[in-house]
Amino acid sequence: MKNIDFEQFIGSFAFDTRLAEVDITGSIAHVEMLVKCKILKQTDGSKIIAGLNSILKSLKKDWTLPKEEDIHYAVEKELTRRIGAVGGKMHTARSRNDQVATDLRLYLRQETDNIIALINEFQTTIIKKSEENINVIMPGFTHLQPAQPVLAAHHLLAYAWMLERDKERLTDCRKRINVLPLGSAALAGTSFKIDRQYSAKLLGFDGVSENSLDGVSDRDFAVEFVFCLSTIALHLTRFCEEIILWMNPEFGYIKIADKFTSGSSIMPQKRNPDCAEVIRGKSGRIFGDLFALLTIVKSLPLAYNRDLQEDKPPVFDAVDNVKLCVEVINEMIVTLKFDKAKTLKSTEKGFMAATEIADYLARKDIPFREAHGVVKSIVEYCIKNSKTLSSLSLQEYNKFYPKKYPIFDDDIFKFIDLQNIVAKKTSEGGTSVNSVKKQISLLKNIVKRK
Ligand code: ARG
Repeated sequence: MKNIDFEQFIGSFAFDTRLAEVDITGSIAHVEMLVKCKILKQTDGSKIIAGLNSILKSLKKDWTLPKEEDIHYAVEKELTRRIGAVGGKMHTARSRNDQVATDLRLYLRQETDNIIALINEFQTTIIKKSEENINVIMPGFTHLQPAQPVLAAHHLLAYAWMLERDKERLTDCRKRINVLPLGSAALAGTSFKIDRQYSAKLLGFDGVSENSLDGVSDRDFAVEFVFCLSTIALHLTRFCEEIILWMNPEFGYIKIADKFTSGSSIMPQKRNPDCAEVIRGKSGRIFGDLFALLTIVKSLPLAYNRDLQEDKPPVFDAVDNVKLCVEVINEMIVTLKFDKAKTLKSTEKGFMAATEIADYLARKDIPFREAHGVVKSIVEYCIKNSKTLSSLSLQEYNKFYPKKYPIFDDDIFKFIDLQNIVAKKTSEGGTSVNSVKKQISLLKNIVKRK
């Protein structure tokens, strides 16, 4: 028979020690409330708070709490070791059930703010890169096939807007995190005349939970939080996928600093986009964290069940990995360089002016459907004869619509000029330099406000 440590199996000390600080913060507020409500004598309260502060100080010096069933017991045991039996009064009118729910909310509130700050930093980098590359034209794709030319800045900024919505989601989730369950006690509330509003005020919560059963057993705030992190991870996978594609020599659109890549042990020519790949891969575990959490809470009867303790590893894992990924991608994008000549060449190759030619004919009163067919034949002709749309002569163009001869004028060449195509996309949110500059100033204001 193996010598299994059942106490360790039941407990959470192996993974919840990072809650030590918020646990102590919560306890200090609880004790202050007990003193204010005259449930605890002032002198006892002061001793407990001094003891808790001394533990906090030790923790900051890299000292670690001795092992217990969980972080809550560990702090209380250490407190009584330091100040004597009076430490045991701290747990009056409270249970570990409302305590742990409070700790998790305090922790997630902090991490929400940290992650929002990291995203802000990343958005600032994207904005800067967009400004640096405001004149770079690159192919825009649909179905990953050449579609229409766009500004590289426009493309980058699409990610800044995704991240903006990620921040909005986190900010909204924070409202539901910031509700205090403390005072729900084990499940039914308490007969002590406590003042929950006062505890909420001390801890900076917007309000208190209105149902004690819900207060101790609710983890939907954590599910929602990890969902918010999952959408961040999701957006990063899309960005990384494009970085990986753009770095492929067939595209050759960009370069990033060597430290974000690796070589191969056998193929000397290799420069692999490992950091981008790892970020793309990390999404798997972050989505997994979300599913783990959903499954842990699923079907649990009210109120607290020990299953809930398993919420911490996935939450912490998602926090650590999303923060790391945002930091890594931010540093990587700082070093991003576009190869302007390459992107332009690629844009010229893809017949991306075709829509403009169809529009040109439509402006001359030819039904768009018919114009579409004419341009399709022009493109086919180019492919067959290894020509580009800009290398065709006016005579060649005019052969394709003999009905109203000559329908094409010299101005067609201005119409298919890539710079001009982009410059004309002046609609709100479009890819013209002016529209993109507007986008940048809008984003700058939003990011500055946060
Ligand atoms: N360690 C537990 C958790 O993380 C908190 C303790 C609640 N335990 C209990 N027996 N009611 O959820």
